[in-house]
Amino acid sequence: MSIFEYNGSAVVAMVGKNCFAIASDRRLGVQLQTVATDFQRVFKIHGKLYIGLSGLASDAQTLYQRLVFKHKLYQLREERDMKPETFASLVSSMLYEKRFGPYFCQPIIAGLGQDDEPFICTMDCIGAKELAKDFVVSGTASESLYGACESMYKPNMEPEELFETISQALLSSVDRDCLSGWGGYVLIVTPTEVQERVLKGRMD
Ligand SMILES: *[C@@H]1O[C@H](CO)[C@@H](O)[C@H](O)[C@H]1NC(C)=O
Repeated sequence: MSIFEYNGSAVVAMVGKNCFAIASDRRLGVQLQTVATDFQRVFKIHGKLYIGLSGLASDAQTLYQRLVFKHKLYQLREERDMKPETFASLVSSMLYEKRFGPYFCQPIIAGLGQDDEPFICTMDCIGAKELAKDFVVSGTASESLYGACESMYKPNMEPEELFETISQALLSSVDRDCLSGWGGYVLIVTPTEVQERVLKGRMD
């Protein structure tokens, strides 16, 4: 079994009209044994910027702590929050620095940039970025997430429809993957508010 699949995970982000959503499953396991059903894989960097980290849970937490530290230093020096594009480059270079002993994580970055333009991107464990206009996926359920998102996604969705779409895509995908699931956690971010919702799913 790949080290990326050890704890199991599913993370997805989608773009709507002047908004975005980022969601993850809530399972933490050790191979086929479930250890926790309330695990967090989506982290806040600032009010309009979030990162989802799939892969090895312990590396996800370490990486998140280092990113918070770097972002705080940036805020002190620049007296402003980081733009999503800048943050993506920071994550990418931090991962590439450890090219020969990487963090076993595949990040998803989602944020609202200048003029509240949504930005989403994903990268592999050594920081090779992949930008997208519609959706990005990662984790052990990524194959089924690609299929679900490909068929359910529509451009320019309003926040409420975006929430329904990302939730249905996540829940149907994790049912096809035995290493992720146990409900979901969804964030819908608009220029004026952030909504946080917990989904119930199959508990088996
Ligand atoms: C996640 O996987 C690692 C494998 O390196 C394991 O050591 C760890 O126990 C797992 N996480 C938890 C909290 O079970």
